Amino acid sequence: MTMQLNTTHIYREIHEQPAVISHFLQQEQGTARRLADIIRARGITHVVIAARGTSDNAARYAKYVLGAMNGLTVALATPSLFSIYKKPLRFGNALVLGISQSGKSPDIVAVLAEARKQEAVTAVITNIPSSNLAQQGDFVLSLHAGEEKAVAATKTYTSQLAAISLLSAALAESDAMLTALAQIPDCMTQTLSANPAIDRAAERYRYMRACVVIGRGYNYATAFELALKLKELTYTMVEPYSSADFMHGPLALVEPAFPAIVVAPSGVMLPEMQAFVRTLNERGAETIIISDDVETLELARTPLKLATAVPEWLSPLISIVPGQLFAMHLAHTRDYDVDAPRGIQKVTETR
Ligand code: F6R
Repeated sequence: MTMQLNTTHIYREIHEQPAVISHFLQQEQGTARRLADIIRARGITHVVIAARGTSDNAARYAKYVLGAMNGLTVALATPSLFSIYKKPLRFGNALVLGISQSGKSPDIVAVLAEARKQEAVTAVITNIPSSNLAQQGDFVLSLHAGEEKAVAATKTYTSQLAAISLLSAALAESDAMLTALAQIPDCMTQTLSANPAIDRAAERYRYMRACVVIGRGYNYATAFELALKLKELTYTMVEPYSSADFMHGPLALVEPAFPAIVVAPSGVMLPEMQAFVRTLNERGAETIIISDDVETLELARTPLKLATAVPEWLSPLISIVPGQLFAMHLAHTRDYDVDAPRGIQKVTETR
């Protein structure tokens, strides 16, 4: 018998996200401010982030936000250089940031431990403030997301994005950024109810074997995160791309009815994404579009609506939501266990 979806952990956790983010924002402003003060006081211009899976997708978001809003150069760490090759990098005056829901993966802990040894400033974004990783952080931004029981991360991902946004606002000392961030939980609530027919939309893709997810700029992270959710929940071969990279070869994949999910919220990137969708449509692709923009949604075979426009730098917190719902419904349509995908566990420890 098919599980009733609204009694599942993932359904509840997706719908908890607005409350989790409000709670996080109430709790962690002080820590974000103290970390921002140290970054400024030390003249830090570089950030190295160590993270895996969903947390690595949050790190991709950090590259764009801390870059665009704070002028920081952000690089993703290469953990095996620390844990397996034993060839640690010289961090110099970088901030070394670990992002992990569980705080357990030894390779990520190894990067932060080395940073400590080199006396770099370290910070950790985690849901488990007592974890091994958190112990390596001079600063710990705790997600306060409550236990996440579904294997696929949802509320921990969006609260990680909120943590990065909060740090960016604190660094910029911008009340306008903080005010915009405070509005995200409401926008998220509206987006959660903006797609009442998403279960039927998902049914259309029951036999889909492969697809791509395209996002660029701030929403490059969203493309990766949605591709990961679709892979683990629906066992579909899904590749994430930036629209720019997709033009450099992968475009050859597109044939009539080829499914492409495009993340295209309002913002500076929107005209680029619209032009990209037109290119796909000319080749007969089946486009599924996540957007708040009416004109853009009209280009889609399957529109997934964002209820409101938000400032582009915050759009990834909202634009992943219809994707999470879509992935959950598609898994349900296929009679898969949405809380416990085959062959994986909640906490993965890699060395
Ligand atoms: C995907 C998912 C995993 C974790 C990954 C990292 O939904 O949950 O990709 O994000 O195993 O784990 P942490 O963040 O605990 O280091």
